[in-house]
Amino acid sequence: MTVDFNARARDWDTHDHTDRAHRLAEAIGAVVPLQPDWRLADIGGGTGLLARELGPRVAHVLIVDTSPGMLEVARANTAGDPRYATLEHDLAAAPLPQRVDALVSSMALHHIPDTDAALRHARASLEPGGWIALADLDADHAHTFHDDGFDGHHGIDRHALADALRSLGFSQVTDRTATTVVKEKHGIRHEHSIFLVTGKAG
Ligand SMILES: C[S@@+](CC[C@H](N)C(=O)[O-])C[C@H]1O[C@@H](n2cnc3c(N)ncnc32)[C@H](O)[C@@H]1O
Repeated sequence: MTVDFNARARDWDTHDHTDRAHRLAEAIGAVVPLQPDWRLADIGGGTGLLARELGPRVAHVLIVDTSPGMLEVARANTAGDPRYATLEHDLAAAPLPQRVDALVSSMALHHIPDTDAALRHARASLEPGGWIALADLDADHAHTFHDDGFDGHHGIDRHALADALRSLGFSQVTDRTATTVVKEKHGIRHEHSIFLVTGKAG
């Protein structure tokens, strides 16, 4: 069972999701040397929560997602601001149509079945010297983050992800815990750590 993001789009911008995006943007800004003239892409950018946190620090943010419903909300959230654009695109299928200076992502990679393809296409979407910043759920061996029946990745092994970036030619690869989130499942509250893995292309 995959998550139906079209159905969840209207209610996505909760306090918890907004707060998570704020904390991840702080963590990204502490590692990635964001520049005012940069073009950035947010992969699996959903309703644009992370994009809108980072937008004021760069020239342009492309919110990339496979869910038309999430992108519709993203367009409403960024209406009238030429700093933002949306693109319906599957990063596992192909690189972005235009290269960007930085590629960020929050909680999307574990929803992409072929993460290796997505990472290859991420690398190919970056300008030489561009940066990648991937925030996602740490390995969730107990399967307490998603509903029963979820068939995506139960979190991501941050060290394996860092190694995969090095194999693709990224340098200055780092990993850290960016934030934690608390989620209830079957009446029990579970704390989950969210990592940030970063690297520089070339
Ligand atoms: C858990 S949501 C995170 C949304 C947003 N980044 C946030 O933190 O609020 C995951 C998002 O990834 C998108 N997604 C899933 N597979 C994708 C793919 N192959 N390419 C691009 N986006 C994808 C989903 O449609 C969804 O909007």
